[in-house]
Amino acid sequence: MLEVSGLTKVFPGRKPVTAVNGITFKVDAGEVVGLLGPNGAGKTTTIKCILGLVRPTAGQVSINGFDQRTHYRQLLRQVAAVLEGSRNIYWRLTVMENVLLFAGLHGISRREARPYAEHLLESFHLMERKDAEVRSLSSGMKQKTAVACALAKRTPLVFLDEPTVGLDVETSYDLRRVLRDLAAGEGRTFVISSHDMHVIQDVCGRVVIISGGRIIANNTVEDLLSLFRTRSYNFTLAGTLDGTLTEGLARAFPQATVAARGGQTLVTARLSHGGQLYELIDVLRLSGAVIESVSQVEPDLERAYLELVRQGRETA
Ligand SMILES: Nc1ncnc2c1ncn2[C@@H]1O[C@H](COP(=O)(O)OP(=O)(O)OP(=O)(O)O)[C@@H](O)[C@H]1O
Ligand SMILES: [Mg+2]
Repeated sequence: MLEVSGLTKVFPGRKPVTAVNGITFKVDAGEVVGLLGPNGAGKTTTIKCILGLVRPTAGQVSINGFDQRTHYRQLLRQVAAVLEGSRNIYWRLTVMENVLLFAGLHGISRREARPYAEHLLESFHLMERKDAEVRSLSSGMKQKTAVACALAKRTPLVFLDEPTVGLDVETSYDLRRVLRDLAAGEGRTFVISSHDMHVIQDVCGRVVIISGGRIIANNTVEDLLSLFRTRSYNFTLAGTLDGTLTEGLARAFPQATVAARGGQTLVTARLSHGGQLYELIDVLRLSGAVIESVSQVEPDLERAYLELVRQGRETA
């Protein structure tokens, strides 16, 4: 669906800025890919280059087989985007008028567009406000309207740059559900940039992480999580801290943390190999501790992401 090869963007000036530095990746039809990276990493510039809103300094882009250089008009018909901060909707038109207008710009007649527009507004809980002028809406509603306008074009590929910024928790969940449904039900392809790892973990199958204009990771979310699936365990012990326990732990597991919690003691230890679990249990038993529960600390995307970006900076 999308092929980006050697994409580079240098913003000229007295001190030229290399915002994107030789980025190569592919997105298959039906995938939902997260574009992650610290502020200034080059995410928005990458998206703008792909859309041709910013002229790439080097590299190739093709969407659905249409090359940006030779088939730009056809390429544009394959893609819709909501860019960060810019809500390209008309504030004096109503919500429904906006959605129909944007579908119309894509050659979909109003009659054809209306049922789908209603479906989208329904999903976003915007139907009650469909005849309200956009300028009278809250910022979250404007954001949802902008996303609905992009989706109404029914393009196979959709870019969403920070779609959940400023949305309340419930609205963010609504949007995630809609995106998952559209990907699963209509086989549409999404590239989503976000700083909210929960959003990414919730809707994306794969993530491309950019740092300093380069790709530092391109993996499925599952792979990233298992890469960082640490052997960390939480033990909840009956009773409060005990001297023999802290001494025993300090000797055998210096990196373990011990904390009082209510009438219980919480021990968290990261083990270097599976066998250490038995040793840890031995230490606990010898100190007379009563184990009430054990759980493995689940990795999350946020930690994996932070670790990758840190490693990326070190090797840069
Ligand atoms: N029009 C421009 N002229 C000069 N430099 C620019 C321009 N647009 C972006 N840059 C620079 O390019 C780099 C990448 O910016 P970009 O907006 O792509 O980052 P981003 O990953 O989207 O960051 P954020 O997470 O903050 O949105 C930054 O150093 C930025 O200052
Ligand atoms: Mg950005």
